[in-house]
Amino acid sequence: MYPNSVGYNPIVQHSILDSDKTPEKDHSTSGAECSTPLREIEMMTMSSSASVSQTRFTRNEFQLGDSKQILKETVGQLESEIRNSNSSASEKTEKLEHLKVLEHRSSGQLQRLTSNLKALYGDRHDFKDVFKRILQTFIAGGLERPSELKELDKQRENNPNWFASNKSIEATLYVDRHCKTLDNLEKEINLFKSLNVNILHLMPTIYKLPAGDNDGGYAISDFRTVDPDIGTMDQLRDVFTSMRKHGISPAMDVTVNHTSHEHPWAEAAKAGDPEKQGFYFLMSEAEKNEYQPNLIDVFPDIRKGSFTWNKDTSKFVWTTFKSSQWDLNYNNPKVLAAMANELMFLANQGAEMLRFDAVPLISKKKGTNCLYQENVPHILQTFNVMQKIAAPGMIFKSEAIDEPKLIKPYVGHDLCQLGYNATLPFHLWDALKHQDSTFLSAALTKHMQTPEGRVWVNYTRCHDELAAKFDSDLAKESGIDRRQRSEELAHFYSGATEGSFSKGKLFLSNPASGTVSATQGSLAGVEQALQNKDPQQIEAAVNRIKLLNSVVMSVPGIPLINLTGGDDRGQINDYSYLQDSDKKHDSRWLHRPMRDIDFKQKDALEVQVMDKVFTDLAELTRIRAQDMPAFGAGLMQVVGTGKNSVLGFIRENDQQKVMVLANFSDKPQPIDSKYLSRHNMVSAIDKISQEDAQALNLDTGIELAPYQSMWLVPVENKT
Ligand code: GLC
Repeated sequence: MYPNSVGYNPIVQHSILDSDKTPEKDHSTSGAECSTPLREIEMMTMSSSASVSQTRFTRNEFQLGDSKQILKETVGQLESEIRNSNSSASEKTEKLEHLKVLEHRSSGQLQRLTSNLKALYGDRHDFKDVFKRILQTFIAGGLERPSELKELDKQRENNPNWFASNKSIEATLYVDRHCKTLDNLEKEINLFKSLNVNILHLMPTIYKLPAGDNDGGYAISDFRTVDPDIGTMDQLRDVFTSMRKHGISPAMDVTVNHTSHEHPWAEAAKAGDPEKQGFYFLMSEAEKNEYQPNLIDVFPDIRKGSFTWNKDTSKFVWTTFKSSQWDLNYNNPKVLAAMANELMFLANQGAEMLRFDAVPLISKKKGTNCLYQENVPHILQTFNVMQKIAAPGMIFKSEAIDEPKLIKPYVGHDLCQLGYNATLPFHLWDALKHQDSTFLSAALTKHMQTPEGRVWVNYTRCHDELAAKFDSDLAKESGIDRRQRSEELAHFYSGATEGSFSKGKLFLSNPASGTVSATQGSLAGVEQALQNKDPQQIEAAVNRIKLLNSVVMSVPGIPLINLTGGDDRGQINDYSYLQDSDKKHDSRWLHRPMRDIDFKQKDALEVQVMDKVFTDLAELTRIRAQDMPAFGAGLMQVVGTGKNSVLGFIRENDQQKVMVLANFSDKPQPIDSKYLSRHNMVSAIDKISQEDAQALNLDTGIELAPYQSMWLVPVENKT
């Protein structure tokens, strides 16, 4: 693949276990001299204390029986290590017992592990050693699991879909921007509880990062070190334990595609360590030019090209995003094993969910755009095998922001259990702009009605830009011009369209990309309404927010509240990033403000908006979590309402049936009774507006106020 680079070379096949024998020589040679076959062999090797296997296996020769044998050997080896260790007798007993559990779980995963590793590395003549090393990493990681988490694992093995529930509500925040330190985060538990949050995702600024532009924390310098200004890893572990006591599952990011250029692996690569050079893609100009023409620029306004010159190695390094983010080379099995180690480290600190960043990029193949390659699901499946063996209490979330057909292959029980529902934000804001839910209904019908076994994370805004990601085939079928629709979104929500209520900024300067940065509040009209001090505009903006939140809370999956973006209080854009030279080129900072906890700097009207948005959201989350069992994962059926502006769908499970109606228009919308009675909605309670009040008589239909939504639960004796 990269014949003269330090990456994977399928022609030179050798053992991953040989490298321990040649370290001195490797370190004395500079990275720039790495092109002889001998060096390639050395660079490909994987250090391990295990003995070198005599038998070589490739894809077709390696069978399930071989994997069973490897499991036996691995367990035997670990068993004797435990017996010979200095641990106390009781610790040894506990570990040996757990080893049995891990062996049992591993047996159930061997078939999957074999087929996925064969797909990834089956052409290597040292495949058996690769297999052994990876399985060993998983089991060794599992052995480090603290008792409390082993208990959690047990519970969740019996209830593997625990997260697919109406009680699941996720929030996300940057600790540094929200409350500065981990100490203070403990004090925020009341906030999380009042929003009924049970999954809390800490954004990656929690980690040690390079100074300057670190892509909002997505250039991670060490997965094992917390930024000292925020706290320590010990503190983080304590915070996680205390969250768990409050019923909140902690979640963290893992940039599976890259590390920062200051990560110890990258530092070692820069210092000439051939093994660590093999973790990345280091190329000569000619080599990188073979890839570059097919690659896309992710941040075209900021940076052209996907490679960065590194003077230490005199090579170009593959950096898809920013120059501080070095792409990892999963063609090298050592990278997969090393990353698995980091995942297990975080899992063992108590992270119950890991968010896999930039998933579509993790497999690179020459001659392609290196996006969505066939090996991506195999890598995810392998991590999933690890999770099922070593940490079944943990789940993964896939971050891939694109068309549904592209991102679906990454989400599922055997992949990442959760995935961002990347098309939903577009459709929500698009429907609001057009005051028409037809395209939204079509998308929900196509992508959320069928039982595909995926759990989506639903949101109106996340920490990144709002992007026009939608099903292009569906757009075509619906007579929608993709480019025009994307441009319309960008123009409207950046405030350029005449009569727009919104204030945002284009993320990419080309409006055809359909990308806008802004908080939920500013997109929905709060900023403009506050500037105009117009009570009617304020009411409309607040109601738009409630409308979108009510849909996010009721479609299948898990709602996500972006706390740093201020989703809980109609936060408006923060323009201060323009004064910061590390941030001013990246408009996403517009919607990542420092949280002003005590509202001191806000004027009375703004505080009023914040209170109302918060009360509305807290109420929606409470009703969802307490009263709406039908709102878990389950199915939905999109139904007609007789009005293009009114979205209608049914959620139903064995406990409950609900009809959701959502009016995307700024005018009242009457709904004819026939659209209600055909779903047995003759008499119903709207859980949003009058939870305990009398049932509504729907015989003569119903009228929704501008931007109103309803969660109608039929009253049985009247049906
Ligand atoms: C993901 C993150 C985004 C980051 C990129 C590179 O898309 O959400 O914020 O810039 O990955 O890590």
